Amino acid sequence: MNHSATHTRDLIFSPAIRIFHWLRALSILVLVITGFYISWPFLVAPETNDIQVQSYIRFAHLVFGFALTAITLVRFYLFFFGKSDIERRSFRDASSVSSWVKNLKSYLWMGHLNKAGVYGPLQFTTYVLISFVALIICITGLVLYANVYHLGMGGMMWDAAGWITAQMGGLAQVRIWHHYLTWVFVIFVLVHVYMAVWSGIRFKHNSVDSIVSGYDYHKKHK
Ligand code: HEM
Repeated sequence: MNHSATHTRDLIFSPAIRIFHWLRALSILVLVITGFYISWPFLVAPETNDIQVQSYIRFAHLVFGFALTAITLVRFYLFFFGKSDIERRSFRDASSVSSWVKNLKSYLWMGHLNKAGVYGPLQFTTYVLISFVALIICITGLVLYANVYHLGMGGMMWDAAGWITAQMGGLAQVRIWHHYLTWVFVIFVLVHVYMAVWSGIRFKHNSVDSIVSGYDYHKKHK
């Protein structure tokens, strides 16, 4: 059957949005695994210091940590200044009580979910919150970094890092918050993947596929 008779094919995610989505997914995956390893280095035998496992894992954490920091900044920029306003339009739904009610009802199989932008209000609000959590985990990560590397970039950040450390009540607090926030990502990724698959089934259109191909399909209104 030719679906173009019944459905439209719409580009919803630009190549930049898709590339940054998957780079961010990869960075978060590597950072959660290497981060938990840094906090509990179970592969290094206590009686030796002749093993470089911890250094390699810390190195990977820093490389992907700086990658995530760069992506987080670019993604904030693209949200506000990107050519397409398909993400920004969701702000209208997120600030409308009736859109929230429609959204929650549609999740309980009552009625449709008509959106002003590409995301539903609950989805949009969750993404805004996780973007800020990403910003905070990057900032606390950079503060931890500046405390170990006093030259180059670490040195440049030293004054700001010292100020943030003092505001947070000391370096131990910075570390513990960096660790707690890791769990926010673990929970987010589990719910995010579940919801991406579930909403594709519930609302009968592309969801996981569209962050790969960029396209979604919508039923034509007669
Ligand atoms: C999703 C993002 C991230 C996650 C999930 C994550 C997770 C973790 C975890 C669990 C630890 C161990 C904390 C502990 O000792 O209990 C850690 C340590 C650390 N992280 Fe991250 N992190 C992330 C992003 C970053 C970023 C953006 C940077 C900086 C560029 C960074 C730099 C560091 C540093 C320097 C340490 C301390 C390493 C050490 O003490 O040897 N992290 N991270």
